[in-house]
Amino acid sequence: MTDIEAHSRANGLAARDVAKLARHIFADVRGGIKYKQGLRPYICPFHVLVDYISSNATLLDVGCVAGLFISVLARLGRLQSAVGFDADRAAISAAQNISRALPNSSRIRFEHRDAHEMWPDGLFDVVCLIDVMHHVSPDKQAELITNATEHLAEGGILLYKDMACRPLWRAWANRLHDLLSVGEWIYYAKLDDVIAWARAEGLHLDDRGSMNMLWYRHEWCVFHRL
Ligand SMILES: C[S@@+](CC[C@H](N)C(=O)[O-])C[C@H]1O[C@@H](n2cnc3c(N)ncnc32)[C@H](O)[C@@H]1O
Repeated sequence: MTDIEAHSRANGLAARDVAKLARHIFADVRGGIKYKQGLRPYICPFHVLVDYISSNATLLDVGCVAGLFISVLARLGRLQSAVGFDADRAAISAAQNISRALPNSSRIRFEHRDAHEMWPDGLFDVVCLIDVMHHVSPDKQAELITNATEHLAEGGILLYKDMACRPLWRAWANRLHDLLSVGEWIYYAKLDDVIAWARAEGLHLDDRGSMNMLWYRHEWCVFHRL
């Protein structure tokens, strides 16, 4: 049994279920975004991460690309409202287009923003940092956790997921992926450092996990604001 099958059997939702939703959501989008978003659920464990989001959540997704995670959660009926932002203008434009067909679309918004500048106003039940940290230079990584914490409502959760820096061959395979797909040199943050930064902001570690999907190794933590 693969890691994916083990998880999907335990939780009910499989990677292929999320991929099917993604293909449906992005069916009318043109170009590479459509195919990348349709395939992403096979290499990113959204089917596991959705189970951390309780229904009726208000959610902020930092580095949301074309809005895949928010759209899937909206289709699953988990969201009261959501804001996603990303520094990639073309991806945000695609997100804005697909969001019109989502349930509760008037409560979902996508914005072109850089996480190193102003964040959207408000406090959220859930702040997501999914595969964003490795795009941030080491001197600004702790600040990302600080900013995310500042946008958490009391009792809210920070859902952090990134690529593992060990084993080395998997970390290098992922590094190669980023070099080939976006021409970018990435910076792995050690999960222990992320946990220390979050604790320094007063967050409590509720849960953590890891899994392999193809050659990618994923690690995640769920922090809770008391
Ligand atoms: C690997 S993708 C992950 C996207 C999405 N969270 C997901 O899991 O499908 C990383 C995203 O982070 C965005 N990103 C990187 N640095 C950023 C920054 N400083 N501000 C906003 N977005 C950023 C990139 O544009 C990219 O869309």
